Amino acid sequence: MNDQTKFKALVVREQAEGFQQKIEERCLADLPPGDVLIRVQFSSLNYKDALSASGNRGVTKKYPHTPGIDAAGVVAFSTVPQFSAGDEVICMCYDLGMNTPGGFGEYIRVPASWVLSKPEQLSLLETMQIGTAGFTAAQCVDKLLAFGLRPEQGPVLVTGATGGVGSLAVALLAKLGFAVTAVTGKESEHDFLQQLGCTAVLNRQQATGRVSAALLRERWAGVVDTVGGEILAGAIKATRYGGIVTCCGNAASGDLALTVYPFILRGVSLVGIDSAECPLTRRKEIWDKLAGTWHPLLQDVLVKLSQQITLEQLSQTVDAMLAGQTRGRIVVDLREKA
Ligand SMILES: NC(=O)c1ccc[n+]([C@@H]2O[C@H](COP(=O)([O-])OP(=O)(O)OC[C@H]3O[C@@H](n4cnc5c(N)ncnc54)[C@H](OP(=O)(O)O)[C@@H]3O)[C@@H](O)[C@H]2O)c1
Repeated sequence: MNDQTKFKALVVREQAEGFQQKIEERCLADLPPGDVLIRVQFSSLNYKDALSASGNRGVTKKYPHTPGIDAAGVVAFSTVPQFSAGDEVICMCYDLGMNTPGGFGEYIRVPASWVLSKPEQLSLLETMQIGTAGFTAAQCVDKLLAFGLRPEQGPVLVTGATGGVGSLAVALLAKLGFAVTAVTGKESEHDFLQQLGCTAVLNRQQATGRVSAALLRERWAGVVDTVGGEILAGAIKATRYGGIVTCCGNAASGDLALTVYPFILRGVSLVGIDSAECPLTRRKEIWDKLAGTWHPLLQDVLVKLSQQITLEQLSQTVDAMLAGQTRGRIVVDLREKA
């Protein structure tokens, strides 16, 4: 292997007719310098990847570019003692797939500080069935638990419930014994959500409630919101006295129109969740839970809520995700074909 070693990657280029995605042959010399060269076996498709693949400059400033904020694979070469050739590792977020060539290529080269050893109890495939979306769902659930939320306190609302973050949050909360109400825009996916363990399903309008109201009837002991906008506002207004709302996404909107009343009359807590710059110690804590006590709860569910695609199928799946037509987690298989 040398700098001219070739590999396949999805490359997004800006053309006169807009942004185009194509599988291209790249060579290792095209990758930035870095401590660890990783042969990617699996990646996954997150909402941020769909934005990067479609030319969103808020995510990716410079094109041509290879998206993919998630990667799991095997170290091919390392300049640091923490990692050796053959180690199974995962690399998620930081700048991967944003302005650093990401997991939609067969190789990535990254700083050692972005790399985590794969937890022993998880397979590489499972780490990407979880991926950034699942890790984010786990962070949200962990915040609810650390806050002291218990199943007997009442139902938990999950918005964007058929999405990557939402579906994993539904499944994990249900397995932990919570009554979960799912919000979805997809009438056809109510069965899927019930299979994941939710006890009730609302459509988006029902979850929003009366937009002009400052407060709504108290319903939720906790909320995992992945969409923002009017649905998040509705969820906060309907959160019970002393309840907690985690906010991690903006699939619907980045806006949040509210009064202070849910906070000053009901003592509701709004907690922000970020995975991109999440410190390494916190990452390890969450992965320890995902690989430890939560693993037996999630093992079957991960299979139910994920599907595998190839690099060649990515482009059409990106379009489907942007059109709101995907569900659950989408793993990209970059292993060498037999
Ligand atoms: N803070 C972080 O570090 C972090 C990490 C990961 C993800 N995120 C964010 O979390 C959000 C979800 O990510 P994901 O990977 O789960 O994406 P995803 O798989 O595309 O899921 C998003 C879901 O949101 C719902 N949705 C889409 N458009 C909507 C609209 N206009 N109004 C209401 N609901 C809508 C859909 O669910 P239904 O059809 O079931 O309603 C969709 O499946 C994204 O905004 C992403 O950027 C943030």
